[in-house]
Amino acid sequence: MAQIIDGKAFAAKVRGQVADHVAQLRADHGIKPGLAVVLVGEDPASQVYVKSKGKMTVEVGMTSVEHRLPADTPEDTLLSLIAELNADADIHGILVQLPLPDHLDSDLVINSIDPAKDVDGFHISNVGLLGTGQDAMVPCTPLGCLMMLRDYHGSLSGMDAVVVGRSNIVGKPMAQLLLGDSCTVTIAHSRTKDLAAVVKRADIVVAAVGRAEMVPGDWIKPGATVIDVGINRIPAPEKGEGKTRLVGDVHYESCAEVAGAITPVPGGVGPMTIACLLANTLTACCRANG
Ligand code: GUN
Repeated sequence: MAQIIDGKAFAAKVRGQVADHVAQLRADHGIKPGLAVVLVGEDPASQVYVKSKGKMTVEVGMTSVEHRLPADTPEDTLLSLIAELNADADIHGILVQLPLPDHLDSDLVINSIDPAKDVDGFHISNVGLLGTGQDAMVPCTPLGCLMMLRDYHGSLSGMDAVVVGRSNIVGKPMAQLLLGDSCTVTIAHSRTKDLAAVVKRADIVVAAVGRAEMVPGDWIKPGATVIDVGINRIPAPEKGEGKTRLVGDVHYESCAEVAGAITPVPGGVGPMTIACLLANTLTACCRANG
């Protein structure tokens, strides 16, 4: 059976380290890092994430500012809010929760954030910096995955890594980070031929496709490390009528029988994402204050 990589415990440790730094910044320099989260519309999953982010931001001693805007907010209004936050010296990190409603141009909105405050690492400048190996704000979910992989393996140099999923939020930056750690990286996706054979080659599998339990255990090379980024809600009639449960993008039970190590859902990548958001906000604050 695979070793379980405990993202929940690791994230608590990272948040503790962030909290210590924040306390020191406040004591030595009177500076309190501030994170602004902007949520447009009523998407239920986004509301849960935003609430959880706000709570943890306060817990590590930072200022949390939430802007909840109606789903029909005009683009100009959102861009004006971002311009205000860009100019606000007490705000060091800005996060616009995705997905945005269809009438808003996500690229335009994200690229209007000051890159130095772009704690999601989605601004085109940060994407370019990461892709060229320069100091960048790194997207939180892939950063959390990388931290768990480094913690478990030490060096990743020379390992075969397969990232399943090619999103701008996870798949592409994850591949860049693994390449930066000298893995041989393959990005697989819905059009990949013989996905099972591609995944089977991997020493490291990162599943980020957004499809419940898509990767079965017989795709996994014995001893491989499996990082499951998926958070999918599926019906769970065994728990009672109308009940649901959370599952990842890999089929946990069968993968855990073959893998050397695996992240659970929940309690794996999810908590690390928020911990990395807080770490990025601290970094942005330190850079802003020299
Ligand atoms: N929606 C899903 N994941 C993310 C994320 O990491 N950042 C933002 N801003 N929105 C998301």
